[in-house]
Amino acid sequence: MSRRPMMAANWKMNKTVREAQEYTAALLPRAADAKEVDVAVLVPFTCLHEVARMAEDTVVTAGAQNFYYEDSGAYTGEVSVPMLLDVGAGAVIVGHSERRETFCETDDLVARKTKRAIEAGLLPIVCVGETKEERDAGDMWDKVSGQVRRVMEEFEDADGESIVFAYEPIWAIGTGDTATPEDAQDAIGKIRDLLREAADRDFADTVRILYGGSVKPENAAEIMAQQDIDGALVGGASLEVASFVELVEAAQNAVTPSEQTED
Ligand code: PGA
Repeated sequence: MSRRPMMAANWKMNKTVREAQEYTAALLPRAADAKEVDVAVLVPFTCLHEVARMAEDTVVTAGAQNFYYEDSGAYTGEVSVPMLLDVGAGAVIVGHSERRETFCETDDLVARKTKRAIEAGLLPIVCVGETKEERDAGDMWDKVSGQVRRVMEEFEDADGESIVFAYEPIWAIGTGDTATPEDAQDAIGKIRDLLREAADRDFADTVRILYGGSVKPENAAEIMAQQDIDGALVGGASLEVASFVELVEAAQNAVTPSEQTED
């Protein structure tokens, strides 16, 4: 795989500052061993400052799970990109299906937020994915391609390293019902083809596309072995540092299997 794999933990609405400190202290030395993997932890706003402080000058990127695209003003309850940068965030999830579904985020909002993050040099991890009903009705690609196209409309000279996509079929999130590696590859391969059209070949070859939805140590190797899958965005299995470390190691192993076997 020519693209550098990424393993990203999405803690969702979990962990106090104390719990975040313990987790980060345990993760940092283990992540440092996975030299070929980009490791990100996307944490609640309340512990972001502390996790970013601990992760400064390490291989782990601390990031947020959301923000609003305006820089400041009368937006009660929101957090802006300059605020995230101020506390040391390097990445942010945009358009997670839980935000799209529970907090009514539209494709337009997701596209504007993605644009703002990129302008500011904050790496957006943009989530796309279909519901079970859409998949059963044969509408998976209509939904996913529409989401990807809307984001790409905002760019002219897109740089593939400035954005990460995550294909997260909604029916696989938190359900234990993982997409088969073949289904995940099929969707992600199609997204890459679409990006070749919507941007260009160089962008499509460079951009990382993660899979998300019930990734765990038992299925990570198979998922990472797929040609177009560059890593994972992990919820449940990222909450325990031990299982997240196993996932980071699976990503490392996908790049350098021989070294791992010799160990
Ligand atoms: P899960 O969540 O790994 O618990 O399915 C993934 C996500 O929502 O990003």
